[in-house]
Amino acid sequence: MIEFQNVWMQFASEVVLKNISLSVREGLTLGLIGTPSSGKTVLMKLAAGLIRPTRGEVLIGGQPITALSEHALFAVRQRIGMLFQNNALFDYMTVAQNIAFPLEQERRHSVAEITARVTEALEKVRLPGIERLFPNEISGGMKKRVGIARATVAKPSIVFYDEPTAGLDPVTSSKIYNLIRDLQTQHRATSIAISTDIDGIRQVSDRVAMLHKGELCFEGTTDELEATRDPLVYQFIRGEMTGPL
Ligand SMILES: Nc1ncnc2c1ncn2[C@@H]1O[C@H](COP(=O)(O)OP(=O)(O)OP(=O)(O)O)[C@@H](O)[C@H]1O
Ligand SMILES: [Mg+2]
Repeated sequence: MIEFQNVWMQFASEVVLKNISLSVREGLTLGLIGTPSSGKTVLMKLAAGLIRPTRGEVLIGGQPITALSEHALFAVRQRIGMLFQNNALFDYMTVAQNIAFPLEQERRHSVAEITARVTEALEKVRLPGIERLFPNEISGGMKKRVGIARATVAKPSIVFYDEPTAGLDPVTSSKIYNLIRDLQTQHRATSIAISTDIDGIRQVSDRVAMLHKGELCFEGTTDELEATRDPLVYQFIRGEMTGPL
């Protein structure tokens, strides 16, 4: 469903992704882990067609997207829901208007239908009744959940979650990972979840990939991740002080 073929990404003189080949099969969730600035968010933006690679190809549902026009890319993005690392909620819109945004863009729903879908989405993220609040009136954990509601409300076939629990306490984080797992089973969306929370990643991922300095240094199942003897990956997932990192 999502495939990177020999993808390179360079900004000015900085090479931030080096020859990444990676794929996510339909209905599965890939956990993407890695050191800070290793290129995780850039990889997600490439898959969403928000930026284009310097070299290589990105395929969504078998369709190469790097050479598509902006117009054609819009159609691809319609199939994708995204939770951004900083939530990226619109401050001047209410919670309801934020969540309604992807539905409004589809231009085929009545006002009543949109209202009902927003109510349902808020119930799913366990925040019923906060439609009229503004983002600056809710907590960090609530913002993440509103972001997840917005990312999933249009029932996209692909969902990206960039750091869904960054800055949240362990209990709220567990609840969010539970919620993501529930949404995966309900919608069967193909997903990529970026996080440095290894326990959370284990909870939601079928396979895991790790980036370090723009290179793919691991790809496999969560069991294979556990069993790896690669010193860098071993140190990273256990948070040890000594090692190559
Ligand atoms: N639009 C851009 N222009 C220039 N450099 C960029 C741009 N976007 C990202 N970078 C650089 O690419 C590198 C990878 O960034 P990215 O945001 O993908 O890291 P990350 O793995 O998501 O890190 P973090 O865990 O801190 O979120 C960084 O060095 C960053 O400064
Ligand atoms: Mg990031």
